[in-house]
Amino acid sequence: MVKDFIDTNDFTKEEILAIEDLGLAMKKAIKEGGYYPHLLRNKSLGMIFQQVSTRTRLSFETAMTDLGGHAQFYGPGSIQLGGHESLGDTARVMGSLLDIMMARVDRHKDVVGLAAGSAVPVINGMSEYNHPTQEMGDLMTMLENLPEGKKIEDCTLAFIGDATQVCVSLMFICSKIGMNFVQFGPKGHQVTDGGLQVENKVDLVAIAEENCKVSGGTITISDDIECIKGADFIYTDVWYGLYDEEVSGESYMDVFYPKYQVTMDMMNYAGPNSKFMHCLPATRGEEVVDEVMDDPERSLCWVEAENRKHSIRALLAALGPRTPLNDEGVDYAGKDELHAALSKIEALQA
Ligand code: CP
Repeated sequence: MVKDFIDTNDFTKEEILAIEDLGLAMKKAIKEGGYYPHLLRNKSLGMIFQQVSTRTRLSFETAMTDLGGHAQFYGPGSIQLGGHESLGDTARVMGSLLDIMMARVDRHKDVVGLAAGSAVPVINGMSEYNHPTQEMGDLMTMLENLPEGKKIEDCTLAFIGDATQVCVSLMFICSKIGMNFVQFGPKGHQVTDGGLQVENKVDLVAIAEENCKVSGGTITISDDIECIKGADFIYTDVWYGLYDEEVSGESYMDVFYPKYQVTMDMMNYAGPNSKFMHCLPATRGEEVVDEVMDDPERSLCWVEAENRKHSIRALLAALGPRTPLNDEGVDYAGKDELHAALSKIEALQA
């Protein structure tokens, strides 16, 4: 298993599913067993945020507390990153003061540079390129909400709208796991158009197609709504996001509305049991209507938000400098699953 969590394409399917198993085991141990596994006792996480965040910040911070450690928050402009001190020097110093780091950055190359220069693991908390911790929470949510009789590899996720970094990330994780990934979006805003403004543009679909060769997954990109028929999960993201300053604030409604707005009619067109997902924050009334977001049967977006914490806790425990579990003689729900999941991670790291 590699040191840093920058891109899920750096991990095997087995490694990703092992981290998900650890996340689900710790979720059970804490929520049902009341047991907090202090796997990062007295360890410090440094959190760099160049962009605002609710879910990601709260998830990392509470996950560290759950694991017996501590998280430090460095908001926009509060530490030196790319000023007169080189990124490599900053990374080296931070790596000597902390046990693990995460960064939400303006430019992907900065989180890559932090990881290269730091002796401790670095986790990508979102860049203009991808959002891998979101992928882990989303995969956990789908694994917990599989349609009756289906395995995860049998499922289709249809992303509706703009090729945001969340859309790109979903294509990566679905293709890695062997799912069918669909983007229903307008030309000019499809993953084939290159995604968001990353320097040294890469062929995003070629990466996913390589994954599919191994996993058996499929990729479909279309502006014909027919492509979402039969999808198990309907996913959308904002039409105007954190990284879109260059785009006219007016034009996105002309491009996406009403064809790409997720309504109950669209959900039913996909299938009577299709589930709704959204990374949040949502702009209600734009990419999704209230009726879908608030439907207790169809909407998974609230459990998806909570699963950010459960999956991030597992990432921290998997990549961080673990201390042994101290639960001898303690009986709690999920104990066997937790020990089995940790043994699997240790075997993969051996
Ligand atoms: N989904 C997500 O990353 O939310 P935040 O921007 O609030 O962290």
